[in-house]
Amino acid sequence: MGTRLGITSSDGRNWHEQRSFVLRQLRNVGFGKTKMEEQIHAELNEILDIIKSKKDTPIWPGESSLISNNDDKTGDDVIYAYIKEMNAQKDREDTTFKLEQLVFIILDIFIAGASSTAITIDLALMSMLLYPEIQRKIHKEIDEVLGENSEMPRYIDRNRMPYTEAVLLEVQRMYSVASVSGPRRTMKATTLGGYDLPKYTTILIGLATVHKDEDYWKDPHNFRPERFLDENNKIYNTERVLPFGAGRRKCLGDQLARAALFTFFVGILKEFSLEKCESALPSTDLVPGLLTSPKPYKAYFRKRKI
Ligand code: HEM
Repeated sequence: MGTRLGITSSDGRNWHEQRSFVLRQLRNVGFGKTKMEEQIHAELNEILDIIKSKKDTPIWPGESSLISNNDDKTGDDVIYAYIKEMNAQKDREDTTFKLEQLVFIILDIFIAGASSTAITIDLALMSMLLYPEIQRKIHKEIDEVLGENSEMPRYIDRNRMPYTEAVLLEVQRMYSVASVSGPRRTMKATTLGGYDLPKYTTILIGLATVHKDEDYWKDPHNFRPERFLDENNKIYNTERVLPFGAGRRKCLGDQLARAALFTFFVGILKEFSLEKCESALPSTDLVPGLLTSPKPYKAYFRKRKI
């Protein structure tokens, strides 16, 4: 990938030190704890205010001002901690803490992390326009589980909302925002599936291929959340949903992304119904790229009467 800096594009000692450091710093600023939920709620409040302020004007959820999933304070704290570590290690000849690394780490977190989460939410909301019956079922579940509760949804609520959880799994399977894993490198010459791979070959693993495997899913091109619900209405069959990759190089932000995805999606649908605003539905031909994203579309967000 041209460079071996930061986390996503590096390996060996460099990757290990940079990944562990960033994960530790993210935990220090509340990642995976109640503080993370508070930050998600603060952002959800802002999103709801923006939607309300637009009254009955149609909105494109992917517009950067709506769901950006950034937190400047958290970013500053991680960057500040990194610079401190750089200074502490400046006399070590073999240090991996360098300014150019920091630039790539910022790219890893803010580009890979923030935009992938925002795009997934955009796709989940788009699916509500494509499948109004599914939106109705989610509203029903929200009303039954959270109806009386005026508080913000919490990530733990997913345990009582299997249908909504199944829809979010289906969004991630169907659209594969990251269609391939991060790059891997062969450390010695080897063979894989009958192919000779020289030392230092870059390898990408097709996540979309797993998500659309006909032998396994049977009808992978149908949007069918029920595939994740067993006869007792419990979530199952999730082993082959790999939006965050797998193994030691798995996404380090998956906890934050899952919590943000559930909380934003439920928080928005608790208050609003999405309606298409043009005769045509959003296109399911997505825009390919490092991240697969929807084409711009607009929707009416109608305030629900609960
Ligand atoms: C829905 C949102 C997200 C999706 C779909 C996603 C997906 C992925 C995928 C597929 C990988 C490659 C995993 C592999 O190679 O096996 C990855 C790696 C990574 N992600 Fe995410 N991610 C998301 C959110 C985030 C967030 C919120 C952050 C930051 C807080 C983040 C930071 C990273 C980093 C730093 C890596 C590189 C890990 C490594 O190479 O060790 N991601 N992500």
